[in-house]
Amino acid sequence: MNISIDLIKSTEAAAIAAFDFIGSGQKEEADRVATEAMKEALLKQDFAGKVIIGEGKKDKSFGIFDGEIVGREADIWTKNTSRYRQLYGDKPIVWHDVAVDPIEGTTPTVTSGPEAISAIAVGTKGSMFHTEHFYMNKIVYGSKIKRRTELSLSNPLEENLRLASEATRKPISELMVCVLNRPRHRKIIHKLRSLGVRIKLLQDCDIVGAVAACLPDSNVDFLYGIGGSPETVISTAAIKTLGGDIEAQIYDQDLTGNLDPVFSHESEQWYAVGDIIPSRHLISGTCAFASTGITHGSILRGVRTVGDGLFTNSVFMKSDEGCVRWVETYHGIYNKNKRREN
Ligand code: FBP
Repeated sequence: MNISIDLIKSTEAAAIAAFDFIGSGQKEEADRVATEAMKEALLKQDFAGKVIIGEGKKDKSFGIFDGEIVGREADIWTKNTSRYRQLYGDKPIVWHDVAVDPIEGTTPTVTSGPEAISAIAVGTKGSMFHTEHFYMNKIVYGSKIKRRTELSLSNPLEENLRLASEATRKPISELMVCVLNRPRHRKIIHKLRSLGVRIKLLQDCDIVGAVAACLPDSNVDFLYGIGGSPETVISTAAIKTLGGDIEAQIYDQDLTGNLDPVFSHESEQWYAVGDIIPSRHLISGTCAFASTGITHGSILRGVRTVGDGLFTNSVFMKSDEGCVRWVETYHGIYNKNKRREN
């Protein structure tokens, strides 16, 4: 997989573009500029990608759409194969699956709340799960638990807590479970409280919660509950790289809606609403994850201006490298007015 740390240039670009809209209340504009910035940056990267999970609004003609080609190699290849040969010789084109989230946390971005990030995941061709269903239920946990046991959505919550408590050698009252603060999680939150479990209640951005559950120093033991499907697949790239695990289920609000099954290429298996999908079918094989903080959060610092420039804080990880790179970048000249005019 020829994906390098340069991937963070695309999340940095989206985060810098979104920075101008922190606290602005302008959700759609923020999304538009971040998406365009990410798209532009991806076209400068030397790789070939096809978007499996995109972003944007077709009717308003901005976005990085499902099926779109990204990466310099792919762009040149599809427009002019002879030019590709001139530049890359006999090097075969290697296609990748790409999932983008230029702004994960549009609300915290435009209300200057915490935890907004820009994120991207890349996998080998045909490796990413795709569903039109908006939500997925999920459980995510890190390597400390995975080394000793398996948590599962098929277990009652109490059983997962018991297993996590045994694996971490912490009493249940010291476990920390990350949950999105949504009315649909009222019962889960009530149950966790009644058992004395601590809760990291996220207002938004469950990619952050999933990554935190897999980082050894985050104090989060597992993430539980329903979030966006794109976020679930993107998180999987980080979870796999960090040695954690995830199970997911396609979720319909009332579980009586569209029961059309969803095809997973890799496993040649069909999943219906409610079926449990293991991590290897969310993303199979090697994968990479990059993210940059937009506003300050628990895993990444937000964009900060310093003098004429600004700092970004990013993370890059790739499952075949076994390391996590935290990157602080100073971007020399930051022209706020130029961005706004665009
Ligand atoms: P957006 O940036 O697209 O608004 O997503 C933020 C988010 O909190 C995700 O992290 C999460 O998966 C999803 O929204 C949950 O959706 P909802 O807000 O509808 O419950």
